Amino acid sequence: MMTAPEVRPDRRLRLFESLPVSLTARKASGNRIWTDEYGELVDMESGCWAAPLGHAHPEILETLIEQAPRALHLHEKFVLRHASDLTEELCDASGLSGGDYCGTYLTSGTEAVSAAVWLAENLTKRTRKLCTNLSYLGATPDLRMPRNPDAWTDLDIRGCLDCGASSRCDLCEKLDGIDFRDHACFVFEPGNSGGRVLCPPPKLVSHLSARIRETGGLVVCNEVTTGFGRTGRWFGFQHYPSLVGASDLPDLIALGKGLGNGYPVSGVLLRSSLARQAREENLIYVQSHIDDPLGCAVARKVVEILGRDGLVARGDRVGASLRAQVEEARGGLRGISEVRGRGMMNVFQVPPEASPSRLFTALLRRGYFLGLSKRFQLLRAYAPLTLTDEEVRGFSSALRQALEEEGEEGRSPETPSPRG
Ligand SMILES: Cc1ncc(COP(=O)(O)O)c(C=O)c1O
Repeated sequence: MMTAPEVRPDRRLRLFESLPVSLTARKASGNRIWTDEYGELVDMESGCWAAPLGHAHPEILETLIEQAPRALHLHEKFVLRHASDLTEELCDASGLSGGDYCGTYLTSGTEAVSAAVWLAENLTKRTRKLCTNLSYLGATPDLRMPRNPDAWTDLDIRGCLDCGASSRCDLCEKLDGIDFRDHACFVFEPGNSGGRVLCPPPKLVSHLSARIRETGGLVVCNEVTTGFGRTGRWFGFQHYPSLVGASDLPDLIALGKGLGNGYPVSGVLLRSSLARQAREENLIYVQSHIDDPLGCAVARKVVEILGRDGLVARGDRVGASLRAQVEEARGGLRGISEVRGRGMMNVFQVPPEASPSRLFTALLRRGYFLGLSKRFQLLRAYAPLTLTDEEVRGFSSALRQALEEEGEEGRSPETPSPRG
Protein backbone atom coordinates (compact mmCIF):
# COMPACT_ATOMS: atom_id res chain seq x y z
CA MET A 1 0.00 0.00 0.00
CA MET A 2 1.31 3.48 -0.90
CA THR A 3 1.93 5.73 2.07
CA ALA A 4 1.04 9.41 1.72
CA PRO A 5 4.07 11.70 1.65
CA GLU A 6 4.71 13.41 4.95
CA VAL A 7 3.27 16.92 4.97
CA ARG A 8 5.52 19.08 7.12
CA PRO A 9 3.95 22.11 8.73
CA ASP A 10 5.13 25.50 7.52
CA ARG A 11 6.61 27.07 10.65
CA ARG A 12 7.61 30.34 9.04
CA LEU A 13 6.20 33.41 10.74
CA ARG A 14 5.03 35.22 7.64
CA LEU A 15 4.46 38.86 8.44
CA PHE A 16 4.75 40.18 4.89
CA GLU A 17 2.24 40.74 2.07
CA SER A 18 1.74 37.31 0.49
CA LEU A 19 2.13 36.48 -3.20
CA PRO A 20 -0.78 35.15 -5.28
CA VAL A 21 1.27 31.99 -6.05
CA SER A 22 3.75 29.76 -4.27
CA LEU A 23 7.43 30.24 -5.20
CA THR A 24 10.15 27.88 -4.00
CA ALA A 25 13.68 29.00 -4.83
CA ARG A 26 16.37 26.33 -5.32
CA LYS A 27 19.27 28.47 -6.40
CA ALA A 28 20.15 32.08 -7.26
CA SER A 29 23.07 33.04 -9.47
CA GLY A 30 23.76 36.09 -11.62
CA ASN A 31 20.49 37.73 -12.65
CA ARG A 32 18.53 34.45 -12.33
CA ILE A 33 16.63 32.46 -9.70
CA TRP A 34 15.69 28.81 -10.25
CA THR A 35 12.28 27.87 -8.84
CA ASP A 36 10.27 24.64 -8.55
CA GLU A 37 7.05 26.15 -9.84
CA TYR A 38 8.16 28.47 -12.65
CA GLY A 39 11.64 27.23 -13.55
CA GLU A 40 14.31 29.81 -14.31
CA LEU A 41 13.33 33.42 -13.63
CA VAL A 42 15.06 36.74 -14.30
CA ASP A 43 15.22 38.39 -10.89
CA MET A 44 13.94 41.93 -11.55
CA GLU A 45 14.15 42.71 -7.79
CA SER A 46 17.86 41.96 -7.05
CA GLY A 47 16.87 39.83 -4.06
CA CYS A 48 15.36 42.43 -1.75
CA TRP A 49 16.89 45.32 -3.80
CA ALA A 50 20.20 44.32 -2.28
CA ALA A 51 22.20 42.56 -5.01
CA PRO A 52 23.27 45.18 -7.58
CA LEU A 53 25.97 42.81 -8.91
CA GLY A 54 23.55 39.90 -9.25
CA HIS A 55 23.46 36.81 -7.04
CA ALA A 56 26.48 34.74 -6.01
CA HIS A 57 28.99 37.00 -7.76
CA PRO A 58 32.16 34.84 -8.02
CA GLU A 59 34.47 37.52 -6.61
CA ILE A 60 32.18 38.10 -3.63
CA LEU A 61 32.13 34.34 -2.97
CA GLU A 62 35.94 34.28 -3.17
CA THR A 63 36.15 37.18 -0.70
CA LEU A 64 33.85 35.36 1.73
CA ILE A 65 35.93 32.20 1.49
CA GLU A 66 39.24 34.04 1.92
CA GLN A 67 38.19 36.36 4.72
CA ALA A 68 35.93 34.12 6.87
CA PRO A 69 38.71 31.84 8.21
CA ARG A 70 40.95 34.85 8.94
CA ALA A 71 38.51 36.96 10.94
CA LEU A 72 34.79 36.91 10.56
CA HIS A 73 33.72 38.90 13.60
CA LEU A 74 35.83 40.62 16.27
CA HIS A 75 35.42 42.99 19.16
CA GLU A 76 35.22 46.53 17.79
CA LYS A 77 38.08 47.58 20.04
CA PHE A 78 40.65 45.92 17.76
CA VAL A 79 42.21 47.98 15.00
CA LEU A 80 40.03 46.92 12.07
CA ARG A 81 41.72 48.06 8.86
CA HIS A 82 38.99 46.77 6.55
CA ALA A 83 36.48 49.25 7.99
CA SER A 84 38.80 52.23 7.60
CA ASP A 85 39.89 51.21 4.10
CA LEU A 86 36.26 50.68 3.10
CA THR A 87 35.36 54.27 4.01
CA GLU A 88 38.30 55.63 2.05
CA GLU A 89 37.71 53.46 -1.01
CA LEU A 90 33.97 54.12 -1.02
CA CYS A 91 34.44 57.89 -0.77
CA ASP A 92 37.05 57.86 -3.55
CA ALA A 93 34.91 55.74 -5.87
CA SER A 94 31.66 57.60 -5.31
CA GLY A 95 32.80 61.23 -5.42
CA LEU A 96 32.52 61.82 -1.66
CA SER A 97 36.19 62.38 -0.87
CA GLY A 98 35.67 66.17 -0.74
CA GLY A 99 33.41 65.55 2.26
CA ASP A 100 36.11 64.00 4.45
CA TYR A 101 34.08 61.25 6.14
CA CYS A 102 34.61 58.65 8.85
CA GLY A 103 32.47 55.50 8.82
CA THR A 104 31.12 52.79 11.06
CA TYR A 105 29.65 49.53 9.79
CA LEU A 106 26.66 47.63 11.17
CA THR A 107 24.33 44.94 9.86
CA SER A 108 20.94 46.14 8.59
CA GLY A 109 19.68 49.29 6.91
CA THR A 110 17.35 49.98 9.83
CA GLU A 111 20.32 50.00 12.22
CA ALA A 112 22.25 52.37 9.96
CA VAL A 113 19.39 54.91 9.73
CA SER A 114 18.71 54.60 13.46
CA ALA A 115 22.41 55.15 14.31
CA ALA A 116 22.59 58.15 11.95
CA VAL A 117 19.53 59.73 13.58
CA TRP A 118 20.91 58.98 17.05
CA LEU A 119 24.20 60.66 16.11
CA ALA A 120 22.38 63.73 14.75
CA GLU A 121 20.35 64.01 17.95
CA ASN A 122 23.39 63.77 20.17
CA LEU A 123 25.58 66.07 18.11
CA THR A 124 22.95 68.83 17.95
CA LYS A 125 21.41 68.20 21.42
CA ARG A 126 17.98 68.27 19.78
CA THR A 127 15.46 65.47 19.54
CA ARG A 128 12.97 66.45 16.82
CA LYS A 129 13.55 65.18 13.27
CA LEU A 130 12.16 66.23 9.90
CA CYS A 131 11.41 63.92 7.00
CA THR A 132 8.80 63.49 4.30
CA ASN A 133 5.67 61.41 4.80
CA LEU A 134 6.64 59.18 1.85
CA SER A 135 9.94 58.00 3.32
CA TYR A 136 10.30 54.53 4.75
CA LEU A 137 13.23 54.69 7.18
CA GLY A 138 13.30 51.32 8.91
CA ALA A 139 11.46 48.58 10.78
CA THR A 140 11.98 49.57 14.42
CA PRO A 141 9.49 51.67 16.47
CA ASP A 142 11.75 54.77 16.39
CA LEU A 143 11.63 54.82 12.56
CA ARG A 144 8.66 52.92 11.22
CA MET A 145 5.43 54.49 9.99
CA PRO A 146 3.32 55.98 11.43
CA ARG A 147 6.17 57.85 13.15
CA ASN A 148 5.68 59.38 16.58
CA PRO A 149 4.49 62.98 15.97
CA ASP A 150 6.15 64.08 19.23
CA ALA A 151 9.53 63.16 17.74
CA TRP A 152 9.04 63.60 13.99
CA THR A 153 7.78 66.25 11.61
CA ASP A 154 6.54 64.14 8.69
CA LEU A 155 6.06 66.72 5.97
CA ASP A 156 3.24 65.75 3.61
CA ILE A 157 4.86 66.24 0.19
CA ARG A 158 2.29 64.57 -2.05
CA GLY A 159 1.26 68.00 -3.37
CA CYS A 160 4.95 68.93 -3.88
CA LEU A 161 5.70 66.20 -6.40
CA ASP A 162 4.25 68.12 -9.34
CA CYS A 163 4.59 71.63 -7.93
CA GLY A 164 5.34 74.14 -10.70
CA ALA A 165 8.90 75.43 -11.07
CA SER A 166 7.78 79.01 -10.48
CA SER A 167 6.31 78.54 -7.00
CA ARG A 168 8.69 79.13 -4.09
CA CYS A 169 9.09 76.87 -1.07
CA ASP A 170 9.89 79.85 1.17
CA LEU A 171 6.43 81.25 0.44
CA CYS A 172 4.62 77.91 0.75
CA GLU A 173 2.16 77.67 3.61
CA LYS A 174 2.87 73.93 3.96
CA LEU A 175 6.19 74.81 5.59
CA ASP A 176 4.88 77.69 7.71
CA GLY A 177 4.47 75.81 10.95
CA ILE A 178 7.92 74.17 11.04
CA ASP A 179 10.33 75.60 13.61
CA PHE A 180 13.64 74.46 12.14
CA ARG A 181 15.48 75.48 15.33
CA ASP A 182 13.89 72.49 17.09
CA HIS A 183 15.14 69.94 14.60
CA ALA A 184 18.26 67.83 14.91
CA CYS A 185 18.19 66.87 11.26
CA PHE A 186 16.40 66.55 7.97
CA VAL A 187 16.40 62.86 7.06
CA PHE A 188 16.31 62.91 3.28
CA GLU A 189 15.38 59.70 1.47
CA PRO A 190 15.95 60.41 -2.23
CA GLY A 191 12.95 58.83 -3.89
CA ASN A 192 12.55 55.16 -3.11
CA SER A 193 9.53 56.35 -1.09
CA GLY A 194 8.62 52.94 0.24
CA GLY A 195 9.18 51.31 -3.14
CA ARG A 196 7.01 53.81 -5.05
CA VAL A 197 9.70 55.91 -6.76
CA LEU A 198 8.20 59.28 -5.88
CA CYS A 199 11.15 61.65 -5.92
CA PRO A 200 11.06 64.85 -3.83
CA PRO A 201 11.62 67.90 -6.06
CA PRO A 202 15.14 69.44 -5.96
CA LYS A 203 13.89 72.89 -4.93
CA LEU A 204 12.18 71.43 -1.84
CA VAL A 205 15.30 69.46 -0.87
CA SER A 206 17.45 72.53 -1.38
CA HIS A 207 15.09 74.63 0.76
CA LEU A 208 14.75 72.13 3.62
CA SER A 209 18.52 71.42 3.72
CA ALA A 210 19.36 75.14 3.78
CA ARG A 211 16.79 75.90 6.51
CA ILE A 212 17.89 73.01 8.69
CA ARG A 213 21.55 73.92 8.32
CA GLU A 214 21.16 77.64 8.97
CA THR A 215 19.79 76.80 12.43
CA GLY A 216 22.60 74.33 13.24
CA GLY A 217 20.76 71.15 12.24
CA LEU A 218 22.22 68.38 10.07
CA VAL A 219 21.34 66.75 6.75
CA VAL A 220 21.13 62.95 6.93
CA CYS A 221 20.77 61.08 3.64
CA ASN A 222 19.14 57.69 3.83
CA GLU A 223 20.84 55.83 0.97
CA VAL A 224 19.92 52.32 2.12
CA THR A 225 17.99 51.61 -1.07
CA THR A 226 19.08 54.45 -3.36
CA GLY A 227 22.83 53.89 -2.85
CA PHE A 228 25.30 51.82 -4.86
CA GLY A 229 24.08 52.74 -8.32
CA ARG A 230 20.41 51.96 -7.82
CA THR A 231 19.32 55.36 -9.23
CA GLY A 232 21.98 55.66 -11.95
CA ARG A 233 24.38 57.56 -9.66
CA TRP A 234 26.46 56.18 -6.81
CA PHE A 235 24.03 57.82 -4.40
CA GLY A 236 20.48 59.05 -4.85
CA PHE A 237 21.26 62.45 -3.34
CA GLN A 238 23.67 63.08 -6.23
CA HIS A 239 20.59 63.90 -8.36
CA TYR A 240 20.14 66.98 -6.13
CA PRO A 241 22.48 69.86 -7.10
CA SER A 242 22.14 71.54 -3.69
CA LEU A 243 23.84 68.56 -1.98
CA VAL A 244 26.78 67.78 -4.25
CA GLY A 245 29.26 70.64 -3.74
CA ALA A 246 32.12 69.72 -1.34
CA SER A 247 30.75 71.96 1.42
CA ASP A 248 27.11 70.98 0.73
CA LEU A 249 27.53 67.20 0.95
CA PRO A 250 25.32 65.43 3.52
CA ASP A 251 26.53 65.50 7.12
CA LEU A 252 25.59 61.85 7.57
CA ILE A 253 24.86 59.09 5.05
CA ALA A 254 23.13 55.82 5.97
CA LEU A 255 24.14 52.84 3.83
CA GLY A 256 22.76 49.30 3.51
CA LYS A 257 21.44 46.76 1.02
CA GLY A 258 23.75 47.09 -2.04
CA LEU A 259 26.77 47.69 0.20
CA GLY A 260 27.01 43.93 0.85
CA ASN A 261 25.42 42.69 -2.40
CA GLY A 262 23.20 40.42 -0.31
CA TYR A 263 25.58 39.89 2.60
CA PRO A 264 24.13 41.80 5.60
CA VAL A 265 26.35 44.82 6.14
CA SER A 266 25.27 48.45 6.52
CA GLY A 267 26.97 51.62 7.63
CA VAL A 268 26.96 55.28 8.55
CA LEU A 269 29.29 57.89 7.08
CA LEU A 270 29.79 61.00 9.20
CA ARG A 271 31.76 64.13 8.34
CA SER A 272 35.18 63.94 10.04
CA SER A 273 34.64 67.23 11.91
CA LEU A 274 31.47 65.77 13.45
CA ALA A 275 33.26 62.46 14.15
CA ARG A 276 35.84 64.50 16.11
CA GLN A 277 33.05 66.17 18.07
CA ALA A 278 31.51 62.77 18.82
CA ARG A 279 34.84 61.54 20.21
CA GLU A 280 35.42 64.69 22.25
CA GLU A 281 31.96 64.35 23.74
CA ASN A 282 32.50 60.68 24.46
CA LEU A 283 29.43 59.45 22.60
CA ILE A 284 29.09 55.72 23.14
CA TYR A 285 27.16 53.50 20.72
CA VAL A 286 27.51 49.76 21.19
CA GLN A 287 26.28 46.74 19.28
CA SER A 288 27.59 43.20 18.87
CA HIS A 289 28.46 43.71 15.23
CA ILE A 290 30.49 46.85 14.64
CA ASP A 291 32.99 46.96 11.75
CA ASP A 292 32.95 43.15 11.39
CA PRO A 293 35.91 42.22 9.17
CA LEU A 294 33.89 39.86 6.97
CA GLY A 295 31.15 42.37 6.15
CA CYS A 296 33.68 45.12 5.51
CA ALA A 297 35.80 42.87 3.27
CA VAL A 298 32.72 41.99 1.21
CA ALA A 299 31.72 45.67 0.97
CA ARG A 300 35.21 46.65 -0.19
CA LYS A 301 34.93 44.10 -2.97
CA VAL A 302 31.46 45.39 -3.94
CA VAL A 303 32.85 48.94 -4.18
CA GLU A 304 35.81 47.69 -6.23
CA ILE A 305 33.61 45.79 -8.70
CA LEU A 306 31.05 48.59 -9.09
CA GLY A 307 33.83 51.05 -9.91
CA ARG A 308 36.03 48.75 -12.01
CA ASP A 309 33.17 47.44 -14.17
CA GLY A 310 31.48 50.84 -14.60
CA LEU A 311 28.22 49.37 -13.32
CA VAL A 312 26.71 52.62 -12.05
CA ALA A 313 26.72 54.17 -15.54
CA ARG A 314 25.69 50.84 -17.02
CA GLY A 315 22.67 50.59 -14.72
CA ASP A 316 21.70 54.13 -15.68
CA ARG A 317 21.81 53.29 -19.37
CA VAL A 318 20.04 49.93 -19.11
CA GLY A 319 17.40 51.42 -16.77
CA ALA A 320 16.62 54.18 -19.30
CA SER A 321 16.37 51.59 -22.03
CA LEU A 322 14.06 49.47 -19.84
CA ARG A 323 11.70 52.42 -19.30
CA ALA A 324 11.71 53.31 -22.99
CA GLN A 325 10.97 49.74 -24.05
CA VAL A 326 8.24 49.33 -21.44
CA GLU A 327 6.65 52.61 -22.61
CA GLU A 328 6.66 51.19 -26.13
CA ALA A 329 5.36 47.79 -25.02
CA ARG A 330 2.43 49.26 -23.12
CA GLY A 331 1.41 51.53 -26.00
CA GLY A 332 -2.31 51.32 -26.72
CA LEU A 333 -2.92 48.80 -23.93
CA ARG A 334 -4.48 49.54 -20.59
CA GLY A 335 -2.68 47.39 -18.01
CA ILE A 336 -0.04 50.00 -17.06
CA SER A 337 -0.99 53.62 -16.46
CA GLU A 338 2.44 55.09 -15.67
CA VAL A 339 6.13 54.17 -15.78
CA ARG A 340 8.29 55.94 -13.17
CA GLY A 341 11.97 55.50 -12.56
CA ARG A 342 15.55 56.56 -12.15
CA GLY A 343 18.38 54.24 -13.18
CA MET A 344 17.48 50.73 -12.01
CA MET A 345 14.76 51.89 -9.62
CA ASN A 346 11.56 51.55 -11.64
CA VAL A 347 7.86 51.01 -11.07
CA PHE A 348 4.96 50.27 -13.36
CA GLN A 349 1.72 51.69 -12.00
CA VAL A 350 -1.34 49.55 -12.67
CA PRO A 351 -4.67 51.38 -13.11
CA PRO A 352 -7.46 50.77 -10.56
CA GLU A 353 -9.53 48.65 -12.95
CA ALA A 354 -6.65 46.19 -13.59
CA SER A 355 -4.98 43.65 -11.31
CA PRO A 356 -1.27 43.90 -10.49
CA SER A 357 -1.40 40.32 -9.11
CA ARG A 358 -2.60 38.95 -12.46
CA LEU A 359 0.07 40.86 -14.35
CA PHE A 360 2.68 39.65 -11.85
CA THR A 361 1.64 36.02 -12.41
CA ALA A 362 1.48 36.45 -16.19
CA LEU A 363 5.09 37.70 -16.11
CA LEU A 364 6.20 34.85 -13.85
CA ARG A 365 4.82 32.39 -16.38
CA ARG A 366 7.02 34.08 -18.98
CA GLY A 367 10.13 33.91 -16.80
CA TYR A 368 10.28 37.27 -14.95
CA PHE A 369 10.04 37.87 -11.19
CA LEU A 370 9.00 41.42 -10.30
CA GLY A 371 8.13 43.17 -7.07
CA LEU A 372 4.40 43.22 -6.42
CA SER A 373 2.63 45.80 -4.27
CA LYS A 374 -1.09 45.19 -4.05
CA ARG A 375 -1.32 48.08 -1.60
CA PHE A 376 0.16 50.60 -4.00
CA GLN A 377 -1.23 48.85 -7.10
CA LEU A 378 2.12 48.51 -8.87
CA LEU A 379 4.86 46.21 -10.12
CA ARG A 380 8.45 47.01 -9.33
CA ALA A 381 11.69 46.44 -11.23
CA TYR A 382 14.77 47.10 -9.10
CA ALA A 383 16.91 44.76 -11.20
CA PRO A 384 20.64 44.10 -10.81
CA LEU A 385 22.85 46.68 -12.55
CA THR A 386 24.11 43.72 -14.57
CA LEU A 387 20.75 43.22 -16.31
CA THR A 388 21.56 42.59 -19.96
CA ASP A 389 20.12 44.30 -23.02
CA GLU A 390 18.77 40.93 -24.10
CA GLU A 391 16.98 40.51 -20.76
CA VAL A 392 15.46 43.98 -21.17
CA ARG A 393 14.22 43.09 -24.67
CA GLY A 394 12.87 39.75 -23.43
CA PHE A 395 11.10 41.42 -20.55
CA SER A 396 9.49 44.10 -22.72
CA SER A 397 8.23 41.52 -25.14
CA ALA A 398 6.90 39.33 -22.29
CA LEU A 399 5.19 42.39 -20.82
CA ARG A 400 3.54 43.23 -24.11
CA GLN A 401 2.20 39.71 -24.36
CA ALA A 402 1.03 39.70 -20.75
CA LEU A 403 -0.76 43.03 -21.25
CA GLU A 404 -2.38 41.77 -24.43
CA GLU A 405 -3.50 38.64 -22.63
CA GLU A 406 -4.98 40.76 -19.83
CA GLY A 407 -6.54 43.32 -22.12
CA GLU A 408 -8.99 43.57 -24.96
CA GLU A 409 -6.73 42.19 -27.66
CA GLY A 410 -7.05 38.67 -26.29
CA ARG A 411 -4.51 35.90 -25.98
CA SER A 412 -1.31 35.79 -27.96
CA PRO A 413 1.41 33.12 -28.23
CA GLU A 414 3.88 32.76 -25.34
CA THR A 415 7.17 34.63 -25.58
CA PRO A 416 10.26 32.44 -25.57
CA SER A 417 11.58 31.95 -22.05
CA PRO A 418 14.62 34.08 -21.08
CA ARG A 419 16.77 30.93 -21.44
CA GLY A 420 15.84 30.50 -25.09
C1 LIG B 1 14.82 53.67 2.16
C2 LIG B 1 15.00 52.56 3.15
N1 LIG B 1 15.53 52.84 4.35
C3 LIG B 1 15.75 51.88 5.27
C4 LIG B 1 15.41 50.57 5.02
C5 LIG B 1 15.64 49.53 6.08
O1 LIG B 1 16.64 48.63 5.70
P1 LIG B 1 16.65 47.13 6.25
O2 LIG B 1 15.40 46.49 5.75
O3 LIG B 1 17.90 46.53 5.71
O4 LIG B 1 16.66 47.21 7.74
C6 LIG B 1 14.85 50.24 3.77
C7 LIG B 1 14.46 48.86 3.47
O5 LIG B 1 13.79 48.57 2.50
C8 LIG B 1 14.63 51.26 2.82
O6 LIG B 1 14.08 51.02 1.62
